[in-house]
Amino acid sequence: MFDSRETSKAFVVGSPIRHSRSPMIHGHWLKQFGLAGSYEAIEVWETDFPAFVKYLKKEALYRGGNVTIPHKERACQLVDRLDETAREIGAANTLWLEDGLLHATNTDAYGFAANLDERHPGWDHVSDAVVLGAGGASRAIIQALKSRSIASIHVVNRTEARARELADRFGERVHAHAMPALTEVLQGAGLFINTTSLGMDGEGEVDIDFSSLASGAVVTDIVYVPLETPVLKQAKAQGFATVDGLGMLLHQAVPGFEKWFGQRPQVTEELRQLIIADMAG
Ligand code: ATR
Repeated sequence: MFDSRETSKAFVVGSPIRHSRSPMIHGHWLKQFGLAGSYEAIEVWETDFPAFVKYLKKEALYRGGNVTIPHKERACQLVDRLDETAREIGAANTLWLEDGLLHATNTDAYGFAANLDERHPGWDHVSDAVVLGAGGASRAIIQALKSRSIASIHVVNRTEARARELADRFGERVHAHAMPALTEVLQGAGLFINTTSLGMDGEGEVDIDFSSLASGAVVTDIVYVPLETPVLKQAKAQGFATVDGLGMLLHQAVPGFEKWFGQRPQVTEELRQLIIADMAG
């Protein structure tokens, strides 16, 4: 599919899209490889997304691109070929055209695991993991945890019914809990992942007692603005290792870039600092 003589074009589509950091990430890699490709942000409203997908296939101007809020779920219904990962998660974030067909996958689970592999090797050698939140992001995390040999995955959510839906969806190894059970669920767990905006909506302080986690446990967040979220701040103050969510964003971009532009890029400290500087500006 890849022909290095052609100029390749890729996109990120969503609404709102102007805060997306994906153009900066892919632009950095295009420059690094000296490729004559482009990666652009396209604002498409929810109602216009089916027409956008039709246009993608008809015009074939792009090799593919990223899909973000609010189109990740809808994309699954509109593409010609959905891979197993995107099907399990129920959302797609990466599209590509191949032999006239539009394909989709989800690289968020890959990005999550690759970030922890890089920043805290051995993170998956735990028997119990706790996931806070039961939204779209949580589904990608659960898929990533299931693909590693973590025996029990506990989903804790403010709305218990949503946690139960995920436990039913992902089957054995995934257990649902309501918020009041959090302290009990944390006991002896080796990994805690926050997928919510807890503590960031002005609704008061985060009050999670991490002290019953296993010694050497890791606490991570998928939110990366700010880099140190209220949840990470609290875990750090209680003496636990923390991993921020920026690396997940960077790593999830790797498989897409390779598909559209034919080179596998590296997630470097230079790229990380570039995004941090942009966030500060
Ligand atoms: P995303 O796709 O980013 O996961 P989402 O589907 O809106 O977004 O899910 C947001 C998650 O954060 C949900 O689990 C939500 O809990 P509810 O299902 O009870 O709504 C959780 N969440 C958001 N704000 C929260 C808060 N202040 N306290 C606890 N949970 C919160």
